[in-house]
Amino acid sequence: SLEQSVRPHDLKHYIGQEKVKKNLEVFMEAAKMREECLDHVLLYGPPGLGKTTLSAIIAAEMGVQMRTTSGPAIERPGDLAAILTALEPGDVLFIDEIHRLNRMVEEVLYPAMEDFCLDIVIGKGPTARSVRLDLPPFTLVGATTRAGMLSAPLRDRFGVMARLEYYKEEELALIVKRTADIFETEINDEAASEIARRARGTPRIANRLLRRVRDFAQVQGDGIITLDLAKHSLQELQVDRLGLDHIDHKLLYGMIEKYRGGPVGLETISATIGEEAETIEDVYEPYLLQIGFIQRTPRGRVVTAACYEHFGLEVPKS
Ligand code: ADE
Repeated sequence: SLEQSVRPHDLKHYIGQEKVKKNLEVFMEAAKMREECLDHVLLYGPPGLGKTTLSAIIAAEMGVQMRTTSGPAIERPGDLAAILTALEPGDVLFIDEIHRLNRMVEEVLYPAMEDFCLDIVIGKGPTARSVRLDLPPFTLVGATTRAGMLSAPLRDRFGVMARLEYYKEEELALIVKRTADIFETEINDEAASEIARRARGTPRIANRLLRRVRDFAQVQGDGIITLDLAKHSLQELQVDRLGLDHIDHKLLYGMIEKYRGGPVGLETISATIGEEAETIEDVYEPYLLQIGFIQRTPRGRVVTAACYEHFGLEVPKS
């Protein structure tokens, strides 16, 4: 489908993350030469940077199937055993939000990753016995927003760790143009750059903004995305010059108006603006930290002078 083709299917068409791409190319080539499956890969970084896409590309480049699941979906060891025993040799098993696996499931995963085997207990009480089952060799690709949330034993079992970084504006502009091409929508370079500039370093956001701007072009214009049309649409979407949206504003204004810019704890911010603490920490905060609008201190989060200036507010004297 059109939606599927927005995601690149091979490394050659994957824009950005140059370091990760170059290294993965070597590891995949080496594994193929040895006729082995690729070592387990941990992909970490903020949401929307292409972890699922990269996993699918790894499977495609290795010429195997990808099976997809997530940490919270695997509730009991038996659920994991069912997934692992159904794999074909060499398959990629993609586990999204892998930091949310529970302890019992993790324990089953260790020997599976290390020795491609499964220790299962048959029966209960004094007659219970442990049986070791061989598994087909496979590549586990785990994805998480923060590698620090993984238990140390799990983290240690990944041979490849790749941190995805926020994309550069030029890279996002290329992604916007590529997606517009797939949509058969005409867009000029300045408009693509404008959308890229406001996409918070994130392809998922860039492509979402492009879809909405394209709606404005279709309904209010002649279908062509020009700089003026892009600017007008982004204003209607309440996405500001730096790409900060309604929720970013609510968060920052909440800290400024109710807590004089902080320091204020995450849980307090969460209660004040009515967004989940985990969502703030994983989705909103990383970019605000990256652009230097907030800082983390031992006593909580603080709003920086740069943020006050962006909003045209006077920086409070400390
Ligand atoms: N679409 C979404 N992410 C992409 C990327 N990194 N490269 C090309 N197209 C994309």
